[in-house]
Amino acid sequence: MSEPVKLSVVQVGKTFKGNDGPVTAIESISLDIPQNQFVSIVGTSGCGKSTLLNMIGGLDEATTGHILIDGEPVRGPGRDRGFVFQSYSLFEWMTVEGNIRFALEKSALSKPEKQELVAHFVNAVGLSGFQNAYPKQLSGGMRQRVAIARALVYQPAILLMDEPFGALDAQTRGMMQELLLTVWENHRVTVLFVTHDVDEAIFLADRVVVLASRPGRVKKDMMIDLARSRTPNVLTDPTFAHYKREILADIREETLKVMSLERI
Ligand SMILES: Nc1ncnc2c1ncn2[C@@H]1O[C@H](COP(=O)(O)OP(=O)(O)O)[C@@H](O)[C@H]1O
Ligand SMILES: [Mg+2]
Repeated sequence: MSEPVKLSVVQVGKTFKGNDGPVTAIESISLDIPQNQFVSIVGTSGCGKSTLLNMIGGLDEATTGHILIDGEPVRGPGRDRGFVFQSYSLFEWMTVEGNIRFALEKSALSKPEKQELVAHFVNAVGLSGFQNAYPKQLSGGMRQRVAIARALVYQPAILLMDEPFGALDAQTRGMMQELLLTVWENHRVTVLFVTHDVDEAIFLADRVVVLASRPGRVKKDMMIDLARSRTPNVLTDPTFAHYKREILADIREETLKVMSLERI
């Protein structure tokens, strides 16, 4: 059964006013993303991944083209989209629960309803018992779990994740990937996940989009046909290796282009 299109990126381009004249970060990107699809976005540093995510999130405006959610143009940030960034943007003076509840500040839900949602998501990200802890008492992985719960608690249709596990050690990162898949399977949501880790991109996604660099365009758009639910065993599957080889070759080609431009 195919899902309806949730998000359409239509010939979107972005040019920044740089100090030495305009910088075209994205030339033209078009993508149709069905509801509940998990899409990983990879590409060389500076190819426009964060810029694309920020525009979808409504934090930045496209210079050309448009972004549609359920056919409606994006005009700014909204409760239909949740963000998780690499840096742990938690409020240090609020508890785990307080941080998650804060996301519901403007919600019309009653206090008990909010409390129930907060408790549900504390549990969903495996933080039961830590609801009264402060961020400084938590490990990096736990802090990112708070950030995920905070982004999901108002039940957005789209979750935008910009290198969310980039600062974590390999073991924690692996656990977080599995946790994210479990959460995604239980709370269906469309995910755009930016990473420069190709294993992570394939392991998580239904589809991997490789961006070409400077200026950004879609270089490859690849469906990942690996059974779910996935376990780390999939990392040694020959099909996985095949996807990885192709994606790495693309990224390498793009990195070489950038390096020759910059004469590194
Ligand atoms: N606010 C900005 N002003 C000027 N240039 C920017 C700005 N934000 C990003 N850029 C440029 O746009 C390009 C894409 O950046 P970014 O989206 O952050 O790349 P990525 O996330 O793929 O590493 C880079 O060349 C970057 O220097
Ligand atoms: Mg980035």
